[in-house]
Amino acid sequence: MFCIVSGFKVFCLSLLFVVVASRPTVGTKVFNIQHYGAKHDGKTDNANVFTNVWKNACSRGENSKIYVPKGTYYLSGVKFVRPCKNKIEFVIDGTLLAPSNPNNIKQDTWINFRYINNLSISGKGTLDGQGKYSWPLNDCHKNTNCPKLAMTIGFAFVNDSGIEGITSLNSKMGHFNFFSVHNFNITGVTITAPEDSPNTDGIKMGFSSNMHISNTHIGTGDYCIAILSGTSDLDISNVTCGPRHGISVGSLGKNKDEKDVKGLTVRDIVFNGTSDGIRIKTWESSASKILVSNFVYQNIKMIDVGKPINIDQKYCPHPPCEKKGESHVQIRDLKLKNIYGTSKNKVAVNLQCSKSFPCKNVQLIDINLKHNGRREDGPATAVCQNVDGSARGKMVPQHCLD
Ligand SMILES: *[C@@H]1O[C@H](CO)[C@@H](O)[C@H](O)[C@H]1NC(C)=O
Ligand SMILES: *[C@@H]1O[C@H](CO)[C@@H](O)[C@H](O)[C@H]1NC(C)=O
Ligand SMILES: *[C@@H]1O[C@H](CO)[C@@H](O)[C@H](O)[C@H]1NC(C)=O
Ligand SMILES: *[C@@H]1O[C@H](CO)[C@@H](O)[C@H](O)[C@H]1NC(C)=O
Ligand SMILES: *[C@@H]1O[C@H](CO)[C@@H](O)[C@H](O)[C@H]1NC(C)=O
Repeated sequence: MFCIVSGFKVFCLSLLFVVVASRPTVGTKVFNIQHYGAKHDGKTDNANVFTNVWKNACSRGENSKIYVPKGTYYLSGVKFVRPCKNKIEFVIDGTLLAPSNPNNIKQDTWINFRYINNLSISGKGTLDGQGKYSWPLNDCHKNTNCPKLAMTIGFAFVNDSGIEGITSLNSKMGHFNFFSVHNFNITGVTITAPEDSPNTDGIKMGFSSNMHISNTHIGTGDYCIAILSGTSDLDISNVTCGPRHGISVGSLGKNKDEKDVKGLTVRDIVFNGTSDGIRIKTWESSASKILVSNFVYQNIKMIDVGKPINIDQKYCPHPPCEKKGESHVQIRDLKLKNIYGTSKNKVAVNLQCSKSFPCKNVQLIDINLKHNGRREDGPATAVCQNVDGSARGKMVPQHCLD
């Protein structure tokens, strides 16, 4: 568009605005999966219908919307892969039902998105992993040959995308898994599984950046959010977490090819009855020398949390760990501000850093954590090992920084 007279500028811009604003609806073709043969009887396998619709929607070169109306759609494993030429919206208002027999999902993730950009998943629907038939088979804590159970939904090599409003129920293993995902928003999502369901992590990610998780409730049998090697610029806000474990960074340092974890913001969070709240764990004997830095935890309420603040650089689940001893993961620039509520353990603040790489610049601001475990154990305490930092504002328990 070309405007010579400055008086025309307003006209030119508003015309441009109309064109941009109307583009998504004009170019978007809707694929209602019922029109392509999907059966919502909860029994017929719809995997082929879904993958065919995906291929169609993906290869058009124009924006597409795949619509899953109300109803229960049985679905064995599906892979949604490139090439997608344009934006894809996936609107799920129905329930996608996983096979109850884990052997009927012949891949490591039930619903698998790979090599895609500009994908948006939304709707009021549910992903029902039907995990309860698989949980008794999970004996991985004692059997290295334990059966491989599928995670519910995985994103790998996915950019500029998001998920909003979906519920994920009773996964067989983890619920949401992210690997090499950049610029991805998760909002208004609900993730639940019973407290005693093994390894049903809520959200797990590694080698990913620029992710936002907001307005979400997670209560499972394992971590709410597990942040692994290579994650950077992750923002978590307005999340409620519980039961089971909290928001955890790590475990880190065990393997050689790990990458730094940088730029984590965790704010406006409620941990309700979790075993941990804020947790960073690194292996006592570590193979990689990486940096964990620029973390801010702010406005965090702890309700009966086992270990509200727990930095553990002596992680060694199956002792004895190698003699080498000290973690080579460097933690620095960590701010904990306005963290309050109740601790089940007497040690409410545990800062156990590495002797060879002491934690640097740990700031505690307005901490108010009360012990509500056994009364005879006395008030809450803080433990420090190899930490350099500062404290200001309200400080309960008394801090232990030098
Ligand atoms: C995603 O869509 C936006 C706007 O339609 C476009 O500018 C951008 O290039 C797309 N990103 C990718 C990675 O395709
Ligand atoms: C996704 O984003 C990452 C980081 O910005 C970039 O390196 C990668 O090339 C992108 N992938 C695609 C398929 O666009
Ligand atoms: C994610 O949300 C942020 C902040 O609200 C926004 O700036 C960004 O564009 C969103 N990204 C995507 C891929 O939707
Ligand atoms: C926080 O998330 C909940 C859903 O878990 C939502 O109902 C509420 O409106 C959100 N609050 C803010 C301030 O966005
Ligand atoms: C905490 O969890 C308990 C038990 O599930 C529930 O009854 C209570 O309402 C929750 N409290 C908050 C503030 O969410």
